[in-house]
This record gives sequence, C-alpha cells and structure tokens, in this order.
Amino acid sequence: MNEDLQKRIQAALANPQNMGEMTGADSIGTVGNADCGEMLRLWVKFKNDNGRKVIDRASFQSFGCETAIAVASLATELIRGKTAEEALALKTEELAGELGPLPPMKIHCAQLVEGALRSALAPEKVEVKPVAPVNAPTLLDSFSKPKEGGVKLTFLDD
Ligand code: FES
Repeated sequence: MNEDLQKRIQAALANPQNMGEMTGADSIGTVGNADCGEMLRLWVKFKNDNGRKVIDRASFQSFGCETAIAVASLATELIRGKTAEEALALKTEELAGELGPLPPMKIHCAQLVEGALRSALAPEKVEVKPVAPVNAPTLLDSFSKPKEGGVKLTFLDD
C-alpha cells in the first residue's frame, strides 16, 4: 500500500465517524468476506425530508479491517441526506471518497462496505412508493416488445 493512502486511512481511523450499533434503525445489512474473515454490519435510519425518504444517519461495526473501517466511516457520512436509490447508485470508488483509488488487494474492503449498504437498502426492505404502477410498461418496453400488429422498428447502421 502506498504511503499516501496509508496516511489517509490512518487519518480516517484517527476519528472514525458513525462507528457502533444503532438502536432504532430502520434497516440493517450484514456482509462478510470468507477469504479474509472480515464482517461488516451497517445500520440505516431514514427521515422524511420534504416528502422524500432520505437517509438520516447510518452507522457500522466491523471486525477490524482498517480499510473497511475507513471506507465505512466515509461512506456513512456520504450517504446522509440521500434517498436509498441515490445511495445505491454510488460506485465503490465513490464510497471510498477521499481515500482515493485503492490498490487491487484492498478493493474488496470497499466492496464489503458497498455490499453492506446494498444489503441494508435492498429494495424489498426499503419502503418505496412507486410513481407509476410497478407493471406499467416503460417507453423502453414499448420499443422492445411491440404489440402484435404494431409498428416494427428496425434500426439502421450508420
Ligand atoms: Fe478483507 Fe479488508 S482485508 S475487508
């Protein structure tokens, strides 16, 4: 691991944010990595923000991988105020935030945090009020599954 990254991880570990169990959480996600033995649990509490269901706060517990703790610390701050969908749209490297690019052997540490987040915010666990009925056809559906007798679209090569 390069020295700069080690320093950034140590800085995050010097004052980790949102570490510890949360009582009254709306959702909990737990994931583990069988190869290194690390486990990470993430708690999420939502709030209503002008009609939007957003993440009020999140906390985590870890077995002790420093990189996972540093990423979880940053990620739990990053997702505050975001909807579940917005948080789920974040990429692994975005969750690692200011730590910057992780070396290949440490990418799985950030992926563990991402996995815990996905576990906590899995759609079946999140109360989402769809804008349209779930089975309503989308514009893409109408192109990809034309009704019988409907117009057939053929895309031309350039
Ligand atoms: Fe496995 Fe960090 S070494 S999660």
